Amino acid sequence: MLPQELIRRKRDGASLKREDVKEFIAGLTSGSVSEGQVAAFAMAVFFRGMSREEAVGLTLAMRDSGTVLQWDLPGPVVDKHSSGGIGDNLSLMLAPMLAACGCYVPMISGRGLGHTGGTLDKLDSIPGYATQPGLELFRRATREAGCAIIGQTVDLAPADKRLYGIRDVTATVESVPLITASILSKKLAAGLGHLVLDVKMGSGAFMTRMADAEELAESLVDVANGAGLPTTALITDMSEPLAPCAGNALEVAHACEFLLGRRGDPRVMDITLALGAELLLSAGIDSDTTAGRARLAATLSSGKAAEHFERMVQVLGGPKGFLSNHQTLLAPAPIIRPVHGDEEGFVSSIRTRELGLAVIELGGGRRVASDVIDHRVGLSGLLGKGVHVDRTQPLCLIHAADEASFNKAADIVKSAYVIGERTGESATILARITG
Ligand code: URA
Repeated sequence: MLPQELIRRKRDGASLKREDVKEFIAGLTSGSVSEGQVAAFAMAVFFRGMSREEAVGLTLAMRDSGTVLQWDLPGPVVDKHSSGGIGDNLSLMLAPMLAACGCYVPMISGRGLGHTGGTLDKLDSIPGYATQPGLELFRRATREAGCAIIGQTVDLAPADKRLYGIRDVTATVESVPLITASILSKKLAAGLGHLVLDVKMGSGAFMTRMADAEELAESLVDVANGAGLPTTALITDMSEPLAPCAGNALEVAHACEFLLGRRGDPRVMDITLALGAELLLSAGIDSDTTAGRARLAATLSSGKAAEHFERMVQVLGGPKGFLSNHQTLLAPAPIIRPVHGDEEGFVSSIRTRELGLAVIELGGGRRVASDVIDHRVGLSGLLGKGVHVDRTQPLCLIHAADEASFNKAADIVKSAYVIGERTGESATILARITG
């Protein structure tokens, strides 16, 4: 079918046949479909939406636009994807915990997006760690360590790269079927057997309303399962930072302490165990999530998860014994000082997105894709909701490269914290969506 005919059909609200979408995506990948036609297609989908059947067709066509990895490993191949938040360093703990349960986790992560941090930027703070290894090293690390967290090295779903670039400049990013196909085409191309999605909702997430989070989670779960990838989603709270820190090296340090069993922040622990247990259930390792949670928790107390993390770092070129020596191996920021609120009372709410913007102001995130980031900077000891604040209790510690950025970040942090009456605790897991 001619590209303009396919666009016309979608524009007029008709549903698209799978083979026509496949042909259009092949043309989008080869370049025979013009930028204008891709933009018009994206806008037609934005306004008309897609049925689940059409979205599955689009996702599979995008998956098949490049390399599709295949694994020959003695355990299930699993992964977790998060829609992004503040202090969301769960991948760093969850991947080695799952590896210690006999899973293999080839995790292809991204860089920071908007106000949220990216797992790859966090790992770049580990000296020598290859975040862009070749395919052979990626395969070896996955086999030997049970987990490998890297950036995209091979040509996975190249159609998404072109389509996303055009969506980005034509106001068509915020389309649920297009977001669904974009995320899942890359996950399917990575050759996974099971997937769990962490869809974040709240003031630090892209989705700030429950109805939007549910719509995205349901679309992702339906389309992933329709495309043959068993998938569950949890909608989790992002109305406050997850780990009590934000910033690249700081979140790595927190993950190290967590894996070493030196800290077990309840919200981080709860969501990590819940996500992991979904995968163990899906992969048939455990028959219910209670057993899965216990198995995952045991990987922390036995030190097995720490061993897998240590091995992953070493195979990917990082220092031997990184975990135990992270305090000396992660570079500190030149200025580390507390910031206090102006009022006394309880933390009643947090404009969590602002905390991500404070990290960008410090140089720990990007304003444009080409920005070079400072891995040392960020916020630690971030207070959560319900904590009592007075003149002696800082809101957090700011890790800054210089006085000017410290001052700007301090202003943002102060305005992010709303001090007032004591409020009830918010739930961490808000919904579970299954196929
Ligand atoms: N992340 C992606 O990979 N694609 C989208 O469209 C949105 C978020």
